[in-house]
Amino acid sequence: ADYVPTDMVMLSIPFDSTTYSEKKYLKREAAEALEKMFAKASEKGLSLIGVSGYRSYERQQAIYNHNLRSDRETLTSLYSAIPGCSEHQSGFAIDVSCKGIYCRLEEEFAATAEGIWVAKNAHKFGYILRYPEDKSEITGYAYEPWHIRYVGKKLAKHLYKNNLTLEEYYGYVPSSAVTEEAHYGNAIDVEDSSHFIEQ
Ligand code: DAL
Ligand code: ZN
Repeated sequence: ADYVPTDMVMLSIPFDSTTYSEKKYLKREAAEALEKMFAKASEKGLSLIGVSGYRSYERQQAIYNHNLRSDRETLTSLYSAIPGCSEHQSGFAIDVSCKGIYCRLEEEFAATAEGIWVAKNAHKFGYILRYPEDKSEITGYAYEPWHIRYVGKKLAKHLYKNNLTLEEYYGYVPSSAVTEEAHYGNAIDVEDSSHFIEQ
């Protein structure tokens, strides 16, 4: 709960909002790679937009609770990590979108020129599509074409070429010991918050 990554920097990329926010931060190595990726996309005439990078435990909790109140348990557990389990808290993951779909984090991103380019090229910059379409059973999460995770170029290329998730590579099995009931119970009492567009 109290983990905060060291060595985070503010990203120099376009975001969907102009206000200061922790979500514009990533670990330095991931940030430098992402900036290169955005620059290359821009050269190709594509306009990628950053939406949500680093998330503190507290913000993941707010997002998760908000999703529980609006979507209930089934959908929330497919799209939202339990606080303390989101890789956004590691500073190595970011959600990206594009202007063509008003920066939404929706499956339609996969069909945009930007989404297609990200799926084909992210690995060259050390990023992977962390939650692919046909791997829900393995990752435990729904298809999230907008959520990319920095793992370094070598591993990213290996995973891309062999069509592997991190779970498959490391032999991870989603834990059945974690239930969301406790969190679900808490969510009811949390005061209503602004509209969350983060996933
Ligand atoms: N949407 C991903 C699974 C997260 O909440 O970290
Ligand atoms: Zn995400």
